[in-house]
Amino acid sequence: MKRIAVMTSGGDAPGMNPAIRAVVRSAIANGMEVYGIRQAYSGLLAGDFERLTNREVSGILQRGGTILQTARNEEFKTAQGQRRALRRLNEHGIEGLVVIGGDGSLRGALALHQQGFPVVGIPGSIDNDIWGTNMSIGVDTALNTILDALDRLRDTASSHERAFLIEVMGRNCGYLALMSGILGGAELTLIPERDMELDEVAARLEDAYLRGKNHAIAVIAEGAKHKIDEVAEFLKGHNVGFEVRITILGHIQRGGSPSAFDRLLATRMGVKAIDCLCKGTFGVMVGLNGRDMSPVPLEEVTSRTRAANMEYYDLAEILSR
Ligand code: ADP
Ligand code: F6P
Repeated sequence: MKRIAVMTSGGDAPGMNPAIRAVVRSAIANGMEVYGIRQAYSGLLAGDFERLTNREVSGILQRGGTILQTARNEEFKTAQGQRRALRRLNEHGIEGLVVIGGDGSLRGALALHQQGFPVVGIPGSIDNDIWGTNMSIGVDTALNTILDALDRLRDTASSHERAFLIEVMGRNCGYLALMSGILGGAELTLIPERDMELDEVAARLEDAYLRGKNHAIAVIAEGAKHKIDEVAEFLKGHNVGFEVRITILGHIQRGGSPSAFDRLLATRMGVKAIDCLCKGTFGVMVGLNGRDMSPVPLEEVTSRTRAANMEYYDLAEILSR
């Protein structure tokens, strides 16, 4: 394999840049030419390719976001769009492709693989909902950003004896909410994987008040059954002792310099992706399993969803008292 391409796709995640850097430098070390595709499948369809040398990926290790930019593209989901994408890859003499992105992006990678094109995926998403890897690139940084926010919100909550409802991202997965709830000392956590009725939310907050706490933190996953506004509205009609305030962390969770963990994960995954292409291991995603980087078939990755580990939920219940 002499010429490959790399793209970042779906929601950006801190660590995508170190992953691009590792792909480029490792491919060049293996005698390949590398092209970056700007704006994911949109750039692929438009033929927006850029030659990347070791110099183009200098100084990006510590930068959040992605130098290749990212996008969501509906046309690529169609058979016609995928045919056009294959034509563009062939026009540029590309023989292999590395796709760094979330579960949707990996579904796109699988579509190309099923049409016979050599593809390797790398999991990049703050949600940690991708099957086949213990951690995706960006999760650790996002979690640390959330914890920083929770610590700050607790300072002001305690000063005013308030309850804060804090919404975190994660799409349909409760991982970020559950882990930040445990590590940020939340009084309760609402996640998509486990419903909690609004009466119980109110009872828990009131219980924290009656037990003498001077603040309460409720972390609410964006995908939870009861959304943050609904919870806040319900609490207006139920005096739980605390005054209630809401904070939606939003896209702050996606930005920032990647943590040491994410830089290492991204670097190892990038190198492993090139190793897979060199060895002819196609149609796989590089996953972190235990300490190892191991290829997992994209069919398996995209046919399942990784949900939050409910053992952590039980732990959160005990520790929140
Ligand atoms: P993420 O990769 O972060 O999960 P999306 O779900 O929005 O983000 O997917 C990113 C892009 O991947 C989509 O805009 C689309 O171009 C492509 N994609 C998603 N699902 C499929 C699919 N089933 N087949 C082909 N391409 C897909
Ligand atoms: O998948 C990453 C993610 O940040 C989700 O947590 C969130 O639901 C979604 O992307 C937000 O998407 P957008 O950037 O299009 O608002």
